[in-house]
Amino acid sequence: MVATAEAKFSAPKIRQTNMLINGKWVESRSGKRFKTINPVNETVIAEVAEGDPADVDAAVKAARAAFESGPWSKMDARDRGRLMNKLADLMEANLDELAALESLDNGKPISDARAADLPLSIDCIRYYAGWADKLTGDTIPIRGNYFCYTRREPVGVVGQIIPWNFPLLMAAWKWGPALAAGCTIIMKPAEQTPLTCLRLAELAQEAGIPDGVINVIPGFGATGAAMVKHPGIDKIAFTGHYETAQKIMVDASTTLKRLTFELGGKSPNVVFADADLDAAVAGAEFGLFFNQGQCCCAGSRLFVEQSVHDKFVDKMLTSAKARRLGDPFDPNTTQGPQVDSDQFNKIMSYIDKGKSEGAKCLTGGSRFGNKGYFIEPTIFTGVTDEMAIAKDEIFGPVMSILPFQGMDEIITRANSTHYGLAAAVWTKDVQKAHRFAASVRAGTVWVNCYDVFDAAAPFGGFKMSGMGRELGAAALANYTESKTVTMSLG
Ligand code: NAI
Ligand code: MG
Repeated sequence: MVATAEAKFSAPKIRQTNMLINGKWVESRSGKRFKTINPVNETVIAEVAEGDPADVDAAVKAARAAFESGPWSKMDARDRGRLMNKLADLMEANLDELAALESLDNGKPISDARAADLPLSIDCIRYYAGWADKLTGDTIPIRGNYFCYTRREPVGVVGQIIPWNFPLLMAAWKWGPALAAGCTIIMKPAEQTPLTCLRLAELAQEAGIPDGVINVIPGFGATGAAMVKHPGIDKIAFTGHYETAQKIMVDASTTLKRLTFELGGKSPNVVFADADLDAAVAGAEFGLFFNQGQCCCAGSRLFVEQSVHDKFVDKMLTSAKARRLGDPFDPNTTQGPQVDSDQFNKIMSYIDKGKSEGAKCLTGGSRFGNKGYFIEPTIFTGVTDEMAIAKDEIFGPVMSILPFQGMDEIITRANSTHYGLAAAVWTKDVQKAHRFAASVRAGTVWVNCYDVFDAAAPFGGFKMSGMGRELGAAALANYTESKTVTMSLG
């Protein structure tokens, strides 16, 4: 008998839909629940407890107690690291389930969840587990007969508000440095995708991370706003839209909370004529269409040097047309649906704007199928810098190709945006590569590659793309305060 091809993955059992406060899985105090929807077929997956200010307050009390009276911030740092490594081991042991849950709730292809989201999330927790016992201060030679040193102490109770595009990975990016530093956490997952965060919190309990250290309150923007306004939270870390960050800054001003933001972008991906064009095409496809175009660092302004523009466009078209849309549980699918109807409608309205502003839609431009939030991979050429599709973050599978001529022109155009998250350059000329990397105002620059992420490499935005850095040693600064101690030596 001939073995059948790899079996299709299937939807996992939903284990947890309540909120986690002080180690207990509880209903919301109001009894309210909200639906999380499967973006493939628009059916309800589960109804999840929705947090109100009263739930946030209970979580703050738990997180405060776990912080003030231990054991978390007072535990031996090496033991904190050990528990974090245990969490990473449990994530690895439950990889199949977590990947399937992520694919179900978000709509991303399960092959992407298994190859990217899960390994990156696990690696992030392990990386920060290693930092727990390495947060050292300085000894400082000051004038006079004194001994002066600094300590790095946890900032306290932190509120973490995350989006729906990489639900589990964003939780890992936030929990890793916060836990390593000895902070306690109240996390609000995105309303579209709460399920993997809830499961991750169960695994954290199983790993032995003490009650109250991690609290999870699902809900909408109002739940997040209640966290931002709560005087018992010392810091807010947020990933999402810059307009939400603006509201958070206003709401946080009364308590002067520490704030870090990872926001969106309109990242320039620049292809010079001397580049390896096939590699650049593959990188441009990945850089824009990966995760259905729902990436903060998507290469959504694709600049191609005039002399190779037409050749590049032909290749790009072939590559976009070969994308496989369909059931995310099919391992051959490379593109799933957008996360929800709001995102679907927003993207379709940008496609309409692109057409009405005079760009040429070479492929795509329509809904795919008649169920779920699928959008065809779309390519516009003839795009100018003033068009809405070249200026605004679309967050969907919509590529804009813009011709350019020469280095000076491209640096000016790449930088004419209020965003500054990422940029990429494709060239075989090292001088061009370094000149571009030094001149572009962005927090990350990829040379002859795109979307290369590592837990050790800082990531974040210039300008309106963010404040502070995620990942690497840099993210530990988001979760620590420096204390200076000066002692008289008599
Ligand atoms: P959003 O910024 O509204 O939502 C992100 C998170 O913030 C969610 O957990 C949400 O519940 C929470 N939130 C919303 N309002 C809040 C408030 N006033 N106070 C505290 N928390 C609040 O983003 P949304 O509406 O989901 O997506 C809109 C657009 O934002 C997307 O089309 C995309 O352009 C951009 N975006 C960028 C992301 C990134 O990775 N940089 C991620 C998600 C969205
Ligand atoms: Mg919103």
